[in-house]
Amino acid sequence: MKQDKQISVGLVGLGRLGRQHADNLAHRIPNCKLMAVCSVKPEEVEEAQQELKVPYGYTNYEDMLRNPELDAIFIASPSAYHCEQIEQALEAGFHVFSEKPLGLYMEEALRVQKAVRKHPNQVFMLGFMRRYDRSYAYAKKQIEAGAIGEPVLIRCYGIDPAQAMPGFMQFAKSNYSGGLFLDMAIHDLDLARWYLGVEAERVWAIGGSHRYTELAELNDAETGAALVQFAGNKMGIFVAGRNCAHGYHIETEIIGTQGSLRIGTVPEKNQVMILDDRGVVRECANGFLERFEQAYMDEAIEFVQAILEGRQPEVTVEDGVLSTVLGYACKESFESGQLVNVQM
Ligand code: NAI
Repeated sequence: MKQDKQISVGLVGLGRLGRQHADNLAHRIPNCKLMAVCSVKPEEVEEAQQELKVPYGYTNYEDMLRNPELDAIFIASPSAYHCEQIEQALEAGFHVFSEKPLGLYMEEALRVQKAVRKHPNQVFMLGFMRRYDRSYAYAKKQIEAGAIGEPVLIRCYGIDPAQAMPGFMQFAKSNYSGGLFLDMAIHDLDLARWYLGVEAERVWAIGGSHRYTELAELNDAETGAALVQFAGNKMGIFVAGRNCAHGYHIETEIIGTQGSLRIGTVPEKNQVMILDDRGVVRECANGFLERFEQAYMDEAIEFVQAILEGRQPEVTVEDGVLSTVLGYACKESFESGQLVNVQM
């Protein structure tokens, strides 16, 4: 193992999540140097370069790819750019980490899969960070050790805070996000495949927009639910939404033949309980950056380790493709009102 080697990373995208990745890559990831940052907004590049002491800054992605000092590219740009930026980075010889999704359309996910397969000696990792969250990883180990017998049903809630809704509405009117199931539920769909160990066969998805009715005009839903039948008669119940009054609600339950386990039943901010004239108050996490702070770090550690050790990470491009297939089936069912067979 060449543990003394530093991996030089170039990061594209310095928005909500990208700026957090920049902080991590600059300060918290062993054997990693954040060598370059790129965004179409020059002020973001300047701020990150100054604040994090990053040697190179770019407003053009292709210029960054020409930097011979880089080993790896970290992609946190908007979803519409992922497919092309992954292809370009792989073609230029870099290891690549990309935020989810692989692309906005099935065709893009398949293009990425083809590009990754064409470059088997370069590390490719997709940002399904929940697998690196300590609670989710612990649950996986417990299931593998037989703690709940055979897992047969998974129930997931993934609901964004209502306070983020006005910002999302502004974004959604001029950008296609993939819709509730592909954009929001994709992490839960990946977790379901991971925990149940089988692929989906049929899905029925429904949804509605009751507080922000404008979402319906965009052919999207504010709250949605999908009932999924997996192979071997295993089951999945998924609730996705964008209108959570109490904060960021990410909850998962896995029911097995000999027990069940739950993760994040109360999506608490920390261990503090406030007892006052409102009663007993447990505050909730207010968004993904707070809830998954540790997971974003640990996924980047895994990416750099995989490069150093010359292996592929556990999350593969196939995981990205198969969850996208399932996400699309949910979207199709929601839009058509029909039960949809999942074509894996
Ligand atoms: P954002 O809109 O806040 O930031 C996007 C960044 O990319 C900005 O810095 C923007 O200037 C830059 N950018 C836009 N077009 C560009 C281009 N052509 N070349 C270079 N830079 C460009 O977006 P946000 O919320 O940070 O999301 C980024 C990605 O991360 C999305 O694909 C999203 O799906 C994913 N995401 C994943 C999460 C997770 O939990 N794994 C959570 C939130 C977002």
